[in-house]
Amino acid sequence: MDEAAVSIMQPTFIKEKIPSAKFSMALGNKLGLCELDLPENENGCTALWTALNKALARVIQQNLPITCFSVPKADAIGKYGEGILNGGILKNTPDMLTLASIDGVACCVVPTLPFASTGCIQFIELDMSQSSITAGRKARRADITVKFVVGTLSETQVEAVPSESIPVESIASLKENKIRLEEGSELKAILVEFQEAEEAAAAAAAVVVEEQKTAEDEEMVVTAWDVKGKIDYTKLVKEFGSTLIDDNLMKRIEAATVGKGNVPKLHRFLRRGIFFSHRDMAALLDNVEKGTPMYLYTGRGPSSSSMHLGHLIPFLFTKWLQDALNVPLVIQMTDDEKFLFKGEYTAESGDNLNHFASLTIENARDIIACDFDYNKTFLFSDLDYVGRMYPNIVRIWKAVTTNTVNGIFGFDGSSNIGKIAFPAIQAAPSFASSFPTVLEAGLDTDQCCLIPCAIDQDPYFRMTRDIAQKLVKRDHGLGGKPALIHAKFFPPLQGATGKMSSSDENSAVFLTDTPQQIEKKIKQHAFSGGRETKELQQTHGADLDVDVAFQWLKFFLEDDEELAKIENEYGSGTGEYWSTGKVKERLIEVLQELVASHQERRAKVTDDEVRKWMAERSIVVKKN
Ligand code: TRP
Repeated sequence: MDEAAVSIMQPTFIKEKIPSAKFSMALGNKLGLCELDLPENENGCTALWTALNKALARVIQQNLPITCFSVPKADAIGKYGEGILNGGILKNTPDMLTLASIDGVACCVVPTLPFASTGCIQFIELDMSQSSITAGRKARRADITVKFVVGTLSETQVEAVPSESIPVESIASLKENKIRLEEGSELKAILVEFQEAEEAAAAAAAVVVEEQKTAEDEEMVVTAWDVKGKIDYTKLVKEFGSTLIDDNLMKRIEAATVGKGNVPKLHRFLRRGIFFSHRDMAALLDNVEKGTPMYLYTGRGPSSSSMHLGHLIPFLFTKWLQDALNVPLVIQMTDDEKFLFKGEYTAESGDNLNHFASLTIENARDIIACDFDYNKTFLFSDLDYVGRMYPNIVRIWKAVTTNTVNGIFGFDGSSNIGKIAFPAIQAAPSFASSFPTVLEAGLDTDQCCLIPCAIDQDPYFRMTRDIAQKLVKRDHGLGGKPALIHAKFFPPLQGATGKMSSSDENSAVFLTDTPQQIEKKIKQHAFSGGRETKELQQTHGADLDVDVAFQWLKFFLEDDEELAKIENEYGSGTGEYWSTGKVKERLIEVLQELVASHQERRAKVTDDEVRKWMAERSIVVKKN
C-alpha cells in the first residue's frame, strides 16, 4: 500500500536469539487498511488476529516459492512506490535493497536473505504480548504492530537474483489497494457485520433515550394560547373533531381553484399536507359550485412588532385562496385580545392598550406586504371596528354560556371578564352580516365564510359553529357555520415541537432579519437530523422528520422536483445534498430571497396606505 508507512522488519532475533521479528504499519489518522478498516473493538481485533493466523497457516501449508531480488533503491521505489520502504529506509539504507516476494501474497524489503519457500517454515506464531492494533474514531492514529516467532524446518536460503529479472506483472497486483488474501475477504465481511451490529445497538439506544425524552417531554398541549410538546396531528384532529383533507376533497379543491384558471396549481401548502385538516370544506364547495357567494376571514393577534416566518403561513395561503377563488377577504387584528391576555397596568403609567393598537398598524404593514388585492381586502382593528360588529357580538354573547367558554378555553372565576367575552369577538367576523358595508351583507345573506388558520385557532370556531344557526336565516347553505381549513404549525428552529415564538429571538427568523442574521440563525440554531459522523450520514442519511432545515424547505421551497431531490439525497446521505451543511445552504438562499422581497414590499407600505386598507368600504367582487 503506497500510503502506509511500513517499518522495516525489526530483527528482534538478534537480541532474543530465537527466529523472531516485528514490524508495524502506521496508517496515520485513517482507519483504512486497503479496503479494510482496522477494527475498533475487541471482537474486531480478535477477528483480525484469527484471520492473520489462518492466512499464515495456509501460506505455509501451500509451500509457495519465495523469490528474492537485489534492487537499487531508486528502482524499487520507481517500480513499487514508496510503500515498499518507510521513511527510515528512505534515508538510511544502502543503495542496494533486498526484496522478497511471495507471488500474489506479499512483497517487502527484508534484512537478510529469506528461505526458498514457505514450505521451509514449520509455524509462525504471533506474540500477542507485543502485537497490537490501535484504531478508533477517537484515536489520533491508526496502526498495527505484529511481533512473530518463526519455527523452521529447513534453512535453505534463496539466491538473490539481479533486479532486471523482477517479475513486474506478478508484483503489480500488490500495489493495488485491494484485499488479496481470501482470509482478508472473510475478515471484511465479519468486521462489517460487527460494525452494523454496533450501529444498530447504538441506534436502538438512541431510540430508547429519545422515547424517554419524549415521555419526559411535556405532553402535547394545543390551546388557543399555548402550543407545547411534540405535536401528533392525527391525534389532534381526533381530539378536535375536525377532518383530514383526503384525496377526494383535494381534487374538489383543485377544481374550484386551479380549475377556475386564476392559479397554475395547488398551493405547495396543500400539495405538501401543511394545510391538512378542515371543517365543512365539502359543503362549502357545494355552495360555491352552486354560485353562492363566499368570503375569506383570517386574523392576527398583534403581540409583537416583528412578525416571523411562522406568522406568514396563514397569510401566504390566504393570499393564494383569494387569487384562486377571486373572493373578498376580511382580516381581523385582535389588539383587544392581546391587551386582555397580555396587557399591563401600573399606577404610574397607566395601561398599555395603545401599545397593542400601534402594533396593529405595524403588523398590518407586514400583512399588506403579502400582496393581497386591495380592492378585495379589508383589514380591521377590533378596537376600531368592533362597533359595526356589535349587534352580532351581542347575539353570540346571548347564545353562549360562561360554562361553555370556560370549558373550551379553560377560564375560571379569576379570569378578567374581557377574556370570557372575547371569543364572541373573534367569532363575529365569521358572519357576513358583521360587515354591512364591507360585504354589503344583512342578516338574510347567503354568503358563506371560509377561515384559513393554524389549527390552534379551531376552539374559537368550534364555539362559533355551535351557535351559528342563530345568526343567519334558516336556509343559509352552511347553517351559518364558517368552514375551516387548518394549517400545521411552523416548527421552531430548535426542533420540531410546539410552535415558533416571537419572544425567543433565536427560535425564529423574523421578517426584519438581515441576510447575515438569517444565515447565522440557520447555521447555528436549526436543529439537524443529520448523523454524528460522515460515515453514519452516508450510510443512514438524515432523520428528515426532525430536521428543521428540511421541514422549513417543505414550507418555502416552491419547486417540487428540487424538494424531492433534497429529500432523497439528504435522507440517504448521498449526492449533492448529502449533508446538513448543503441543505442549510439551500434553505438560507431561499429564506434570504423571501425575506428580502418581503422587506422590499413592506418598505413601500406607508401609514397612509395602511389607513386606506383599514378604511371601511365595500370589497364585494362585482360579477360582470
Ligand atoms: N386569535 C388570533 C391570534 O392570536 C387572531 C385571529 C383573530 C385569527 N381572528 C382570526 C386567526 C381568524 C385566524 C383566523 O393570532
